[in-house]
Amino acid sequence: MLSNATVQPETKSNGVSLKQTAEEMSKLSVKEQKVGRRALFDSSLISTEVSAQLPAQYVLRPLCEDDFEKGVFECLSQLSVVGEVSAARFAETFRTLLAQGASYMNVIEDTERSRIVACGTLVLEQKLLRNCGKIGHIEDIVVSSTERGKRLGLHLIHQLKHLGHALGCYKVILNCKQSNVAFYEKCGLEVRDVQMVEYFTE
Ligand SMILES: CC(C)(COP(=O)(O)OP(=O)(O)OC[C@H]1O[C@@H](n2cnc3c(N)ncnc32)[C@H](O)[C@@H]1OP(=O)(O)O)[C@@H](O)C(=O)NCCC(=O)NCCS
Repeated sequence: MLSNATVQPETKSNGVSLKQTAEEMSKLSVKEQKVGRRALFDSSLISTEVSAQLPAQYVLRPLCEDDFEKGVFECLSQLSVVGEVSAARFAETFRTLLAQGASYMNVIEDTERSRIVACGTLVLEQKLLRNCGKIGHIEDIVVSSTERGKRLGLHLIHQLKHLGHALGCYKVILNCKQSNVAFYEKCGLEVRDVQMVEYFTE
């Protein structure tokens, strides 16, 4: 079972951004407006061991539906092109990810500033091979430039490895630039095979 949809307990907001327009609000179901903010997956899948190693003001958690306001795209933009995404588009995409149930996006929030400072995702691939096994693909790892060198990247990778194990994957894999190989080796991964690619769009 790949479903990761869950409802977070009530937290400080209802998950509907204060800056969202009435039109955007109307696109959310009544339930979504009343229930506490939703997380992409159950927070019991966050490693307590990894969380305990983070400096005090940082929290490791699943992506939540109010993270648009907390700068998730500013953080992601330090990895690659993010385009022009509105709050409504983010909300719609969040619902799609929830429904698909295979994408486990983790974030680290600096709670003193209410800003997302690191992101990393595990995407589950259901196989027929390996006794119908599962692979975890580590994707979209980024730490905000001002926060690098504080071991947030390392903690994020350890969390994604923990997730892969907890979800029953027989391995986790990723693609990266040569310049990041040493970082991933410090996280316990090893180089195996090569990546090949053909882009369909720029
Ligand atoms: C790569 C990245 C995620 C590392 O995050 P970070 O939080 O700065 O790294 P950490 O502080 O956790 O580093 C852990 C260890 O790896 C080392 N390290 C980090 N980046 C490294 C690199 N590019 N090359 C070699 N070693 C590296 C650190 O020195 C540290 O070593 P130590 O344990 O001996 O002290 C971050 O630099 C980043 O977001 N880069 C831009 C986006 C990117 O390239 N993402 C990866 C896409 S595949």
